[in-house]
Amino acid sequence: MFETLPTLVPDPILGLVAECKRDNNPNKIDLSVGVYKDESNHTPVMAAVREAQIRYLESETSKVYQPPGGTENFIGKVNELIFGESHPALKDNRIATVQATGGCASLHLAAKLIMRANPDAKVWLSDPSWPNHFPLLSSTGINIELYPYYDSESHSVSFDKMVSTLENAGAGDLVLIHASCHNPCGADLTKEQWRILTELAQKNGFVPFIDMAYQGFGLSLDDDAYGIRYMSEHLPEVVVCNSFSKNFGLYRERAGSLSVVVSDAQQTSTVMNQALNVARGIYSMPPAHGAALVETVLSNPDLRDMWHSEVNAMRERIVAMRSALADGIAALGCDRDFSFIKQQFGMFSFLGLTETQVDRLKTDYSVYIIKSSRISVAGINPGNLPYLCRAVSEVVKL
Ligand code: LMR
Repeated sequence: MFETLPTLVPDPILGLVAECKRDNNPNKIDLSVGVYKDESNHTPVMAAVREAQIRYLESETSKVYQPPGGTENFIGKVNELIFGESHPALKDNRIATVQATGGCASLHLAAKLIMRANPDAKVWLSDPSWPNHFPLLSSTGINIELYPYYDSESHSVSFDKMVSTLENAGAGDLVLIHASCHNPCGADLTKEQWRILTELAQKNGFVPFIDMAYQGFGLSLDDDAYGIRYMSEHLPEVVVCNSFSKNFGLYRERAGSLSVVVSDAQQTSTVMNQALNVARGIYSMPPAHGAALVETVLSNPDLRDMWHSEVNAMRERIVAMRSALADGIAALGCDRDFSFIKQQFGMFSFLGLTETQVDRLKTDYSVYIIKSSRISVAGINPGNLPYLCRAVSEVVKL
């Protein structure tokens, strides 16, 4: 029966990583997938995570199933990290949080849960958004609509257009918002804009569905969760998907969480029970190891401090590379202004190149960036920077 299956086109992000791996050019630069790399182009195991792993392995006595929603301590620490220690919704026991196998499983779980609660639900996605949002959500049968998000002229959020489109989102709809470090464009909402969206949700009744995959990479661990915390304080219901792939460097371990803020503490355990029942029908239980490392780091003050400084250092390196890229291209006399790269947040920026220019970067220079001209800034380092600046300033002449 499998003979009838056609081969699919490669994934727009993962396919490019594979293509770059096959490239023999010693100068090649991989700015495709959103993974953090250090100055030597390596994605390290973070020191706090390495130490947590040693402590965890020493204390581990069994591989028996853990509670399907994650250990109580993990859930408590994750809630504090996302919502802040004294968040009113936490105090009121209005947050149902379960461990998920990375941000992807969290998104899929959320969509399935939403469909159980309301089979007519609709999710509004930003245009553009992370390409994998579409299959992760739409494979549950949920309806998807788009709202405008990015203005390519000003390289920032087209907030007026976003708001006027979202005037059409009402009760039964969810609006997926990137918590910070928007993937793919790096243009983030201001605090004022989060507050305006909260008022719109209050007025029209839609539920925010917030995806946080880069906490700590934008402004700080707390600032990057501002929208989640504010909306969860002022709205009856909020859905939050969270990933530890990037800020703990736990990519292959698949650690994340799903939190649903509900309007009444009596619903918390029902929502948790439904979410776990959905998970039971897909992967049954999440893997323990990655979550155990997060729990160990967050439960030990020495490791937590170490992790905080590592996240800060990663963010600062990305910010420095943003400036270096924009200034480096300008120093070559390029007549295109790339200073907007400095104003954006997190791992990504749209360079604003045409598809032909993106192709030329690959074929002429072995510089790999996503077709939309998204670059993963974390792949830039002092070693590849001069070559990259030259390549970009050459292709924009085309
Ligand atoms: C990305 O956008 O590059 C990352 O989130 C990794 C992925 O799975 O696509």
